[in-house]
Amino acid sequence: MLFGRIDHIGVAVEDLDAAMQLYAQRFDMREQHRETVEEQGVEAVLLEVGEGHVELLRPLSGETAVGKFLAKRGPGLHHVAYQTDDIDSTLRAVRDAGIDLIDQEPRVGIRGSRVAFLHPSSTGGVLTELVEPVH
Ligand code: CO
Repeated sequence: MLFGRIDHIGVAVEDLDAAMQLYAQRFDMREQHRETVEEQGVEAVLLEVGEGHVELLRPLSGETAVGKFLAKRGPGLHHVAYQTDDIDSTLRAVRDAGIDLIDQEPRVGIRGSRVAFLHPSSTGGVLTELVEPVH
């Protein structure tokens, strides 16, 4: 199996406080981590759902990938992230299977994880992220 489990779903938001009203207050999810990931141009909040997470993403500017997504589609579901123990071999395997990659090599994601995105044109329109957590 290439993917261990769903690590998180990413949700693009314009207003993080308003989103936290929903997820933390009404849905009673615990905030586990908050981080500004400059490289991805987002402020991200991870909320616990069992062993998985919801990742709220607020763009730092309109020029970022998430900022452009919001301008085009508005707030909502942004990506799904699958966990892998070995992102290098998983990335190779999906590339060999003919999937177009956004990231040819893994890069640093939230909490020091290693991540890589697959192109939605190869994944039925679903932006897909691979995550290798810090061991
Ligand atoms: Co993510």
